[in-house]
Amino acid sequence: MVLSSLLWLALTPRWAMAVEISISCGAVGQELQLCREGAQAWAERTGNSVRVVSTPNSASERLALYQQLLAGGSTAIDIYQIDVVWPGILARNLVDLGPMAGNAPAEHFPAIIRNNTVDGRLVALPFYTDAGVLFYRADLLRKYGLPVPQTWDEMTRTAGRIQQAERQAGNGGLWGYVFQGRAYEGLTVNALEWIDSRGGALVDAQGRVVVDSPAAREALSMAAGWIGSIAPPGVLNYSEEEARGLFQSGHAVFMRNWPYAWALAQGADSPVRGKVGVAALPSGDPARGAARHSGVLGGWNLAVSRHSRHVAEAADLVRYLTGSDEQKRRAVKAAYNPTRPALYQDAQVIAANPFFRTLYPSFESAVARPSRVTGRKYNRVSSAVANEVHGALSGSSTPEAALHELSHELRRMSRRGW
Ligand code: GLC
Repeated sequence: MVLSSLLWLALTPRWAMAVEISISCGAVGQELQLCREGAQAWAERTGNSVRVVSTPNSASERLALYQQLLAGGSTAIDIYQIDVVWPGILARNLVDLGPMAGNAPAEHFPAIIRNNTVDGRLVALPFYTDAGVLFYRADLLRKYGLPVPQTWDEMTRTAGRIQQAERQAGNGGLWGYVFQGRAYEGLTVNALEWIDSRGGALVDAQGRVVVDSPAAREALSMAAGWIGSIAPPGVLNYSEEEARGLFQSGHAVFMRNWPYAWALAQGADSPVRGKVGVAALPSGDPARGAARHSGVLGGWNLAVSRHSRHVAEAADLVRYLTGSDEQKRRAVKAAYNPTRPALYQDAQVIAANPFFRTLYPSFESAVARPSRVTGRKYNRVSSAVANEVHGALSGSSTPEAALHELSHELRRMSRRGW
C-alpha cells in the first residue's frame, strides 16, 4: 500500500499535484472581481487553487510594491499584473513565457507582443489594452445644442459654457472637466496626450530629450488654466477613480479616462446611465500647427515571477486569463479592451462597447510613452514628468520653468545613455 502510493507519487507529474498560485491583480473599477472570477474558473478546471492579491490603484505605487517584492526574491506572488510601460524595468525578474506560450503570441496585437519582448524574451502576455478617451455628457451637449468638441480649445469653451449655465440654473456642483492630475503615472499620461496632440513629445524615438518645446508650453498653460475654472482644485489629487467618481455621480460635463469607465457609467445604478458618449480626445488647434487626436497607450499584461515555485502552473493560468474566452468575458461585462484583434469583430463585444469599433483607430495607433527607449530608467523619467507638470498645474511653478527644469533633469538622467 505504502509502496504503491510512493510509486504513484513518483510517477505523477508534478503538474498533476494541486498547488496554490497567487496572482496580484489590479483593483481599479471592476478589475478585482473579474480577476477573481477568471482565476476561480481556472482553479475549478485544473484542481489547483488561486489566491488573488489586490494592489494599490496608483500605477506608481503598484510598481514600487512590485519592485520591493521582486528585489527581495519574494515567493509570495507567482503572477504579476504589469503595466505596458514596465517590461523594461522588471524583465530581469520575470520568466520567459515564449517557450510555454504556444501559438498565443500570434493572436495578440503584434505591437504589444513586441513591447513585452525584452532582449528576445517574452516576459508577459497581454491581458487588456487601453487608450485615453474623452467621456462626455451627451444629454448636456444636446440641451445646449453644442457638438462634441474636436480641439482642446473647443472643449475648454464648451465645458466653461455648460458649467456656467448649469450653475446659474441651480446645478451648483457641476464642473466642466475632470482628468488625472495627481503627481503619478496617470499625470504623465495626460500630459503626453496634451503635448502629442500639438506635435510635441517628451523623449523622441532616438532617446533625445525634446520636452522643452512650444507645443509643451502651450499644453501646460492650457491645463494650468483649467484648475479652479473648469476643473475642481481637487483634480490635482485625482487618479482614475476619483475622476470617475465625480463624472459618474453627474458632476462633470467631460472626463478623460480609460474605457473601463464606460461599463460603470452605463451600470444599472449609475446616475448618468444612458447620458454618456465616448469620443477621441481633443486635438491641438490645426490652425496653429501639427494637430491630432492623441490617446496614450495603456494596458496591462500578466507575467510570471522568476522566484515562483510553480512556474508551469502559473504560466498555464496566465494563458487562461489572457485567452480569447476570458478576454471576451471581460470586454462584454466591464469594457476592458481585448488585446486580440479578432475580438473587435465579435458582435457581443461591439454591442456592449460600440466605441470599440468607432474608436478602433485610437486603440490601434495609441501614442506610446517613452518606456522602450528609456528602458530601466523609465520610472524615473515618468516621476520627473509628473512632478514638474504637477508644479505647473498647481501654480508652484510656471509652464516655462517646469519644462526647463524637466528638460534639465531628463538630460542629466540620459547623460550616459538610457
Ligand atoms: C491605466 C493604464 C496604464 C497606465 C495607468 C496610469 O491603468 O492602463 O497603462 O499606466 O492607467 O494611471
